[in-house]
Parts: sequence; structure tokens; C-alpha cells
Amino acid sequence: MQKPLDGVTIVDHPLVQHKLSIIRDRETSTGSFRQLLREVSVLLCYEVTRDLPLEPVEIETPVAHTIGKTLSGKKLTFAPILRAGAGMLDGMLELVPSARVAHIGLYREPKTLKAVEYYFKAPSDIAERLVIVIDPMLATGHTAVAALDRLKETGVTRLRFVCLLAAPEGIEVVRSHHPDVPIWTAAVDERLNAHAYIVPGLGDCGDRLYGTK
Ligand code: URA
Repeated sequence: MQKPLDGVTIVDHPLVQHKLSIIRDRETSTGSFRQLLREVSVLLCYEVTRDLPLEPVEIETPVAHTIGKTLSGKKLTFAPILRAGAGMLDGMLELVPSARVAHIGLYREPKTLKAVEYYFKAPSDIAERLVIVIDPMLATGHTAVAALDRLKETGVTRLRFVCLLAAPEGIEVVRSHHPDVPIWTAAVDERLNAHAYIVPGLGDCGDRLYGTK
């Protein structure tokens, strides 16, 4: 049982934990890794959207008139941080097909580990939407903070962050820079190593997703 962390929801559903264990295994093939990450993303999406507001809607069923519930407000935006975030996008879109997408291209400068932006394309009315930032690995937190900074610069006020694995160091950095942004993750691992990889982690998520090692 992990200690509760302020603003962090650990999605401990048995299916998520089972799939995560296979994802972590170094022997898991690129194809299985990609498929499992997509499957876990569907389940994480279910949790991160659990408290979305609803409003009443009138419906004519084939039998009777009734009042149902529908999501209220503007459609969601998913904001995957490239490139590993793209590995979670399709699973999340499977659950919310009408969501908009904001792509954020950031890479970690290898020496300083600081985030450098190379791409940003978002819906023009993104400021009015709830934005769910997606990155499988919350490691140092620098990339996550840069993405959240960038989205807030465009006027976004309602943000959530979803990842597969988080390091305590990354959580601390994100929560201290953006205390208003709650985090969902399948697990909080032990620590970062000297190369800023999550331990025990799963290795380089982008490389494992796309077979680039
Ligand atoms: N990014 C990865 O892909 N893996 C880590 O362990 C940390 C950051």
C-alpha cells in the first residue's frame, strides 16, 4: 500500500497493475508494449474523467420520454507530450472520441535535462476547455512543468496530468510549480537514477514504444 500523496491519484485497479507489470518487463516486445500502453490508457482515462460535470438532457427512447445525463461544457482536450505521450493518446480517444487534441513537442536537453519546445499546436479555443496533459513517464517533472507553463500561457485554467509511472521527485516538482494540477498515475516508483530514469520504471518509454533503441 503506497502512502497517499496530496493531489495524486494512484489508479490501483487490478487490470491496470497487471498490464503495468507486463509493460515493465524488459522481455515484452515492442508490439505488446504499444498495445498494453494503449489498453492501460483507456483505464486511466476512465479514472481521470470520473468526476466530470454532467447536465440533464431530454431523450426520446423508443419507449418513452426521459431525462438523461450528458457531459456539460466544451469538449475535453487531450494534450500528449511528444513523443511518448502519443502512445497513450489513441487509448484515451477510444473512450472520448470527440475530444480535441493539442500536441506538445518537448525534448529533454541531454546535458541539463531541461525541456526544450519544438512543436505546439492546439485548438484555438483551448483556454475554455479542460485540458488533460498526457505523458507516460513523470520523471524529473521538467517536461511536465514546461508543458503546463505553456498551456497556462495560452490561457488554460483547468488542467489535469495523467501518466503511467511517476517518480517522487517529478511529483514534487509538478506539485510545487502547479499545485492546482492534480495527477493520475498507475504507480509511484522509488526514485530517479543518475540518468533521470525512473527506478524500477520500464526503461525509455519512447524507445520501447517505437523500437528505436
Ligand atoms: N523517460 C522515460 O522514457 N523513462 C524514464 O524512466 C524517465 C523518463
